[in-house]
Amino acid sequence: MAIDNRTVAYGVFGGTVEHSLSPVMHNASFQALGFNCAYLGFAVTLEKLRDAVLGARALGFGGLSITIPLKTAIMELCDEIDPTAEMVGAVNTIKFFDDGRIAGYNTDGIGAIRALGECGVSVPGKSVLVLGAGGAARGIVFALAGQSAKKIVLLNRTVEKAERLAADLSENFDNIVIETAPLSAETARDNLGSCDLLINTTSIGMYPRTDQNPLDGVRLNPAVTVFDIVYNPMYTRLLEQARQADAQIVTGDLMLVYQAVEQVRIWLGIEPPAGVMIEALRNALTGPNGPKE
Ligand code: ATR
Repeated sequence: MAIDNRTVAYGVFGGTVEHSLSPVMHNASFQALGFNCAYLGFAVTLEKLRDAVLGARALGFGGLSITIPLKTAIMELCDEIDPTAEMVGAVNTIKFFDDGRIAGYNTDGIGAIRALGECGVSVPGKSVLVLGAGGAARGIVFALAGQSAKKIVLLNRTVEKAERLAADLSENFDNIVIETAPLSAETARDNLGSCDLLINTTSIGMYPRTDQNPLDGVRLNPAVTVFDIVYNPMYTRLLEQARQADAQIVTGDLMLVYQAVEQVRIWLGIEPPAGVMIEALRNALTGPNGPKE
């Protein structure tokens, strides 16, 4: 649909948005839905966040994606925050209501759960080994706990961060076993035998360091599904290793798409065509103008 005077604006606010893949996914979905909406990237500093958000509201924007480094600062500007985002401590989506209210949400965790679901992987009762304890890990582990995972083991280079996340989790969820350890081949080996699912939330293996693998030299087995949230490249070293071990894999592009699918559901109240968004994303990732970082 052509942009005109009635087009409703959406966008992503972040420190650097030059390489963001959100515009490609969201515009493909708006197009497929036949909605007169357009989605753009905006580089916004922490200092200008307030002006930018209130300006977008004044201009009639429908909603925004919020990315690094604004995901915590945006919370102060929200009139209401979804309980999940509150627990995670980060907002990646805001919606502007007609009466001016600004509501904040976090779709990262549900995006991960839906990516797993699309690949036939269910979470209830499962034991999950999570590599990393940063922002992405927080969203994912709260969602895993919310989906009644039986056990979560957090391995992180900075073990104190994993311990903090474990403490936050146990404050909110009673019936889940939570363990932490430093990230190493040894701790991974110790835990792989008792886990059903392994999720890499670290940036190890991401472009341009595509030759890196968080579990270098660790033997994987077919009983453990491996999900890598790194989407560039789509098949990371870790996923290649999992494939060689005959393990089921889940690629990171699915999480990127499903967190965006959830954003559209929040903004417009409908389920957008995920297939169209995946195709647009994969074309952007592999095309001549694909992101280099
Ligand atoms: P994100 O929002 O993508 O999760 P982040 O909050 O900066 O980004 O977290 C990055 C995660 O990757 C962290 O768990 C980080 O470990 P530390 O907490 O020890 O920093 C992990 N990470 C990044 N590079 C790493 C590396 N080279 N080796 C081990 N862990 C790494």
